[in-house]
Amino acid sequence: MAINDKALSGKVALVTGASRGIGRAIAVALGRRGAKVIVNYASREDAAREAAAAVEAAGGQAVIAGFDVANSTAVTDAIKAIGKDHGGLDILVNNAGVAVNGLLMRFSDDQWKKTLDTNLGGAFHCTRAAASLLLRAKEAGRIINITSVVGEMGNGGQAAYSASKAGLIGLTMSTARELSSRGVTCNAVAPGFIETDMTAEHLPEAQRAKLLEQIPLGKIGRADDVADAVAFLAGPEAGYITGQILRVNGGMLM
Ligand SMILES: NC(=O)c1ccc[n+]([C@@H]2O[C@H](COP(=O)([O-])OP(=O)(O)OC[C@H]3O[C@@H](n4cnc5c(N)ncnc54)[C@H](OP(=O)(O)O)[C@@H]3O)[C@@H](O)[C@H]2O)c1
Repeated sequence: MAINDKALSGKVALVTGASRGIGRAIAVALGRRGAKVIVNYASREDAAREAAAAVEAAGGQAVIAGFDVANSTAVTDAIKAIGKDHGGLDILVNNAGVAVNGLLMRFSDDQWKKTLDTNLGGAFHCTRAAASLLLRAKEAGRIINITSVVGEMGNGGQAAYSASKAGLIGLTMSTARELSSRGVTCNAVAPGFIETDMTAEHLPEAQRAKLLEQIPLGKIGRADDVADAVAFLAGPEAGYITGQILRVNGGMLM
């Protein structure tokens, strides 16, 4: 059941990788709570425009902002402009990510670098650039990092991806400790297996059936399941929660 109050009215939220999948659902969920959402994307501007329209249809405001989270300079410039154009930033959701899969022994330096630079470097770049704005947020700022079940349990064929997601958990807890004195909270949401382009592209039918056997709730998650958890952590009811990992995985890891 989506949270449908307007508790985020007047708040500005940046959601990275919000043009598709989980990020799009998060942008819509924050919009439904009344936030103005900056819909970040890497290359698919059309998808970002469509996501922004969905945020507005849900009751929020939306603008799009294309930048590569792996590019430190681009992130710094973009977040500076967001602070200036929108009068600050209250909520940062580090969602942008890529799944570059392959066996460890054949994994190239470039594949490793792309995965770590995007999934972990991206969250670091955005958090560092946004910290001063979040510390000045009218009510306490919020950071929510989208990690993964495999960041806690590993996965064959996903050494770099799992390492990047495990790193995000460390980044979450350290950020929570560093920014807590000014009331900023930082938490992670760890999805299990969620139906999006990322998973559809990579999972053959037989593997999908095998995976379902490991999920006690017996079904694959929806992007909205993750978005609802993020909307909760961004809201006033989660003000005393920081440094935590909220698992949204159908019981896959408990
Ligand atoms: N799906 C799952 O089962 C699952 C499970 C656990 C965790 N997660 C995590 O959840 C997050 C979203 O996953 P998803 O399944 O929704 O992925 P997705 O459908 O592949 O969408 C990825 C999004 O990230 C954006 N993006 C990729 N690289 C970027 C970059 N360098 N800079 C800015 N934006 C970038 C894409 O933008 P464009 O549209 O412009 O390409 C797109 O909006 C990821 O961090 C992923 O690791 C997913």
